Order: sequence, then C-alpha cells, then structure tokens
Amino acid sequence: MMATVQMVHGVPPSLSAKVVGSFAYLTVRDRLPTILTKVIDTIHRNKNKFFEEYGEEGIQAEKQTIHLLSKMRNELQTDKPVLELTDALEDVQNWNQYLERQQRQEGDQEDAVSWFKSPWLYVECYMYRRIHEALWLNPPISDYDVFNEQKTQSFFESQQAVMALCTHLEDIKKNMEDFSKNQLLEHFNKLLKVSLWGNKCDLSISAGQENSQKTSAIESLDSLEPFILVDDSNMVWSTIISAQTAGQPGGTTAGRVDIVLDNAGFELVTDLVLADFLVSSGLAREVHFHGKSIPWFVSDVTVNDFQWTIKQAMASNHKGMSKSGVQWQSYLKAGLWSYHDHPFWTQPHEFCDMAADAPDLYATLQEADLVLFKGDLNYRKLTGDRDWDHTVGFDTALRGFGPAPLSSLRTLKANIQVGLQPGQGEKLTSQDPDWMTSGKYAVVQFYSPTAGQ
Ligand code: F6P
Ligand code: MG
Repeated sequence: MMATVQMVHGVPPSLSAKVVGSFAYLTVRDRLPTILTKVIDTIHRNKNKFFEEYGEEGIQAEKQTIHLLSKMRNELQTDKPVLELTDALEDVQNWNQYLERQQRQEGDQEDAVSWFKSPWLYVECYMYRRIHEALWLNPPISDYDVFNEQKTQSFFESQQAVMALCTHLEDIKKNMEDFSKNQLLEHFNKLLKVSLWGNKCDLSISAGQENSQKTSAIESLDSLEPFILVDDSNMVWSTIISAQTAGQPGGTTAGRVDIVLDNAGFELVTDLVLADFLVSSGLAREVHFHGKSIPWFVSDVTVNDFQWTIKQAMASNHKGMSKSGVQWQSYLKAGLWSYHDHPFWTQPHEFCDMAADAPDLYATLQEADLVLFKGDLNYRKLTGDRDWDHTVGFDTALRGFGPAPLSSLRTLKANIQVGLQPGQGEKLTSQDPDWMTSGKYAVVQFYSPTAGQ
C-alpha cells in the first residue's frame, strides 16, 4: 500500500489508474486495450459467419460494432470522460446513475470521471458493459459472445485435468456412505482447495492468453499449500456443519450453499465438483450458483457457459466425466442445484452497496447458510477495491456487507489484500515483489455476520 494514503471518512481511496505506474495504471494503459483489440479481431474474424447467418445485415452489424469498439478504445487511450450508456438493457439506468454518483463525488466537473482518473474497478467493469452495448446496438449480432471462443478453448485445453478431477470425485463417491466425519472433512478440504486454485485459470489477467490447468489439481495441492496466505477453511467447514445440525429436531436438515461463480473452463468444473460433493455427501441440502448475465472479464461464467459445460461433460467419452455430467444435470432437474443471475453482478458497485442498490439480491443471499465468493474480481468488490493496509481485518474491509456467513476463495491477481499478520505483506514484498498480482498466492477468508452473537 502507498505510504501516504488519504483516508476519506476512515475509508482508504479506491485504486485508480491516476496513480502512474500502479497495477491499475498498467491495466488501464496496457491490458484493457489489448483485450479490446482482441475483441475487435474476434468480431472481424467472424465476419463470414455473420454473413452466412444474416446476410448483408450481418456485415453491416459487424462493421458498426467494430466502429463503436474502436471509438471506445480511443476514448480509453486518450483518457476521455466516461459516457452515459445508450442501450435499453435492464440495468442502463443503474449504470447512468452510478456515473452521476461518481460525477457528484468529483464536484460535478465535466471531465473528472474518466478512464485514468476514476476508480479502476468502475472503469474496468464499464469497459465490459460498453462492449456489450456495442453489440446490443447492432442486431442481428446482439447476442454474440465475443469471449466464447476463448472460454471454449480453455475448457478443452484443461481436459486432462478435468478428467482426473471427475475420476477423483467418482472414486470418493463410491465409498462415501462409510466415511467418518474426519474423512468427510479431509475430502471437503481437498475439493475446496481445488476450487480455490481453479481460480488461477482466468483469461482476464492474461489478457486473453491461454491460461488453463495442465496438471492434476489434486496432486498439486501439497506443493501449493505454502502459497495460501490466509486459510480460514476450518470456519467454512464449521459453518456447513452447524447449518446441518441446526435442522429440525429429529432429523438433520443440511444448509443451503451459494456459490458466486467466477470463470468458465477448469475453474467452473472445480466448482461443480465441490458442489456435487456437498450435495451427495449430505453436507448441503442445495446449492445455488450465481453467474453473469452478460459476457464479463473475458472468462466469467454465463448461463450458456454453465449449460454448455454440463452438456460437454455428459457427452464425454471419458467415463468419470460423463457420469459426473449426468449427475449434475439430474441435480439441476431435481432442483438440488439451481443457476441464477442478476444484473448487479455485472455492475461496478462495491458489495457494501448491495443492500441499498440491489436489495432483492441481498435478500436472496440472506437465505443462504454460506456464500462462497470465487475469484479476484469478487474479492475486489468485497473489499471495495481500496488501498487498505494489509493488516486491516477482512470484516472491516467488508464495510457492513454480510448477508450470510461468507468466504472468499481467491488467487491474488490485483494489488489488494487485507487480513494479513503484521509484517507478512512486507516480507512477501521483499521476497516476491509481484506477490499480489501473479496468481501464485491465494487466500480463503471467512466472515460471519453472526459471529460472537
Ligand atoms: O487485474 C487482473 C484482473 O483483470 C482484474 O481486473 C480482475 O480482478 C481479475 O483479473 C479477474 O480475475 P478473476 O477471474 O479471478 O476475477
Ligand atoms: Mg473472472
């Protein structure tokens, strides 16, 4: 963290590209334009496909979309003001109100809210929303997912690891009925950690470069253990167990676990495997998955990715994988699993704003016994993407957000980290200067709104 942090009402400032040389600055200057250029290339490469599907109209839409995206890339690179959105999607008002909020905070100066001057979290989210706007304004290609090819490729590149993991799951399930509580805990811990490290495989940090899981995730766990900086997984376990025993007298009613998903590809499979274990072992009664309603941060899961992944697993020639896929489909059918999305997940808000700005979503999460937040972007939103001191408690950084007991499973890919021991951050900086952004380190952090009551 910077030596001279200006606290506003006791809260540190948002990370921003206005700090020249910072990770936010390098992201806005280099990584975001690279991602935009790839988006433009992808649309251009698919010109023939659009022509085949929609004729001349498809070609016009391709041209016009590229024009809008190039214009945005230019606005970004020349630090122009953030513009209002002009489409008619359900969240357009929220976005424009958010812009007004930012403008008010800057004293209503016309050009104060811009790509390099504004909070990094805001402008990075805004870029993905503008990509969606550019497509939406150009039917017939409005629904085209510009990141689909990359997501699909990353899934296929991690096939070996997916197969190994599904085989592992099927092996566990064969003997599950005879497991002692300790054995269950042991398997739970492993699968939670696999889901944690699955978050290494995202395509936003690598600016769209291939970044898939090559080795068996289970076999890598021991060697990765020293890179977990905070490990609250015992509290995640006790939350699951207490939800189970808090059921009706005379019977155990396990709790509901919500998983706020991050990336498609290998990470999604790790989440599905964890969810399968929770439900099949009776540790959870049901699992609610939360995904994105528009293509987001290159690799994030949309409903299509979710369904596609399960279908791929079902259709696989690999026995363990197809068995898992069939099981997952049946959980969905039986309502033990469900998929949900909400526009709030693809808005720029810190999660401490959720209760006021998306009360319906907040109320939904309140019904869960445990919410698992996957990945780096969720961590940035949980902690407000602010320049917190590393020793500030996770609970403090949440600033009142706590619909239910929650845990963040995140590999570090942005320069924000709270909840460390005094001196831990400094030591890491001296040993490994890129520790916060390389994806090499991870945390499992936990918070319960009811703790101590
Ligand atoms: O800066 C790295 C980045 O693009 C962040 O913007 C974002 O937090 C992260 O990658 C995405 O990671 P994840 O998929 O884990 O949320
Ligand atoms: Mg992601």
